[in-house]
Amino acid sequence: MTENDFLPGDYQNLPEKGKVTWKAPSNIALVKYWGKRPVQIPANPSISFTLDACATTTSVSFEKKNTKESFSFDLFFEGKPKEDFKPKIQTFLERIEIYLSFLKEYHFTIETSNSFPHSSGIASSASGMAALSLCLMDIEKQLNPKMDASLFFAKASYLARLGSGSACRSIKGNLVQWGKHLNIPGSSDLYGIEYPFEVNPVFETYCDTILLVHKGQKQVSSTVGHQLMHNHPYAENRFKQASSNLDNLKPILANGDLEGFIKLVESEALTLHAMMMTSMPYFMLMKPDTMEIINKIWQYREETNTPVCFTLDAGANVHLLYPASDKEKVRDFIKDTLAEHCENGQYIHDQVGEGAIKINN
Ligand code: DP6
Repeated sequence: MTENDFLPGDYQNLPEKGKVTWKAPSNIALVKYWGKRPVQIPANPSISFTLDACATTTSVSFEKKNTKESFSFDLFFEGKPKEDFKPKIQTFLERIEIYLSFLKEYHFTIETSNSFPHSSGIASSASGMAALSLCLMDIEKQLNPKMDASLFFAKASYLARLGSGSACRSIKGNLVQWGKHLNIPGSSDLYGIEYPFEVNPVFETYCDTILLVHKGQKQVSSTVGHQLMHNHPYAENRFKQASSNLDNLKPILANGDLEGFIKLVESEALTLHAMMMTSMPYFMLMKPDTMEIINKIWQYREETNTPVCFTLDAGANVHLLYPASDKEKVRDFIKDTLAEHCENGQYIHDQVGEGAIKINN
């Protein structure tokens, strides 16, 4: 599909009002997206596990208004008005206006909440933008009931990408790939696709425990971090490496090669942070406890032969990845050994999930 496929149809009979609700999960990248060009086109392809427990639920109520000059919306986060999120939503609506021509016809009330604790340091932009995009697509579907499911979900992912890049990987389930790749049929810079190759069942129930090392505001936002990949001395090689890592991942995912998985995933995480440390200006998002956790994971893996590994997103938190069959002993290890490095001892057990769902009002 191309940009033109996402242009709006010719709607008639706009409903007076209504309400739609969607729940969209967070995701954790195995091969990282880091670097982009306008508008929200990734510098390299990426792939992520869709999560399950960490999710955002968003309701959009819509009511016809008299004037069509500007966007009109109220925003509530966990039941309270949230003024500081509004500019981001405003920019998002401006970006997607040409794809959804009804946006200025309505006043919207957007109510959103996260399943994970407030200010846990978990980025909610992926799940948040995905849930909002699905709500808006749901309204478009009411105006254009013939739209088929593949267009519906591809366009939801396309819109979500315009809100936050990684959000385009939070629509569908299990493993989602985003970014044009010569050897991945159907891959696109414009939206995420369900990973089209064989995946060993071990990865369909993979566990991810998020160790909340630091819950405060990040020192440098992802948006700034992406920008620092322009004129970065190692950028070109990094982008090539991400593409070859997607090739390398193919047999690993098909065969359930956990040793190969661990090497690739940990290398991706550390490379992401190496890119931050070698940007100009340079910055570091890992904290001493991040390092302690990583060292303890390596030691535990060495001593027990348990195939646990870590990945990191753009922050200090550590995602601990392991097969469901090792759940019990790994969770003991977390409780006994890693929890002390988490802020207030907090962590969240999650696992690979099926993607976003519609909630009936
Ligand atoms: C490190 O999607 O948050 O998590 O497109 O500017 O909103 P924007 O960035 P964002 O970047 C995510 C970066 C990452 C890696 C990844 O999820 O692939």
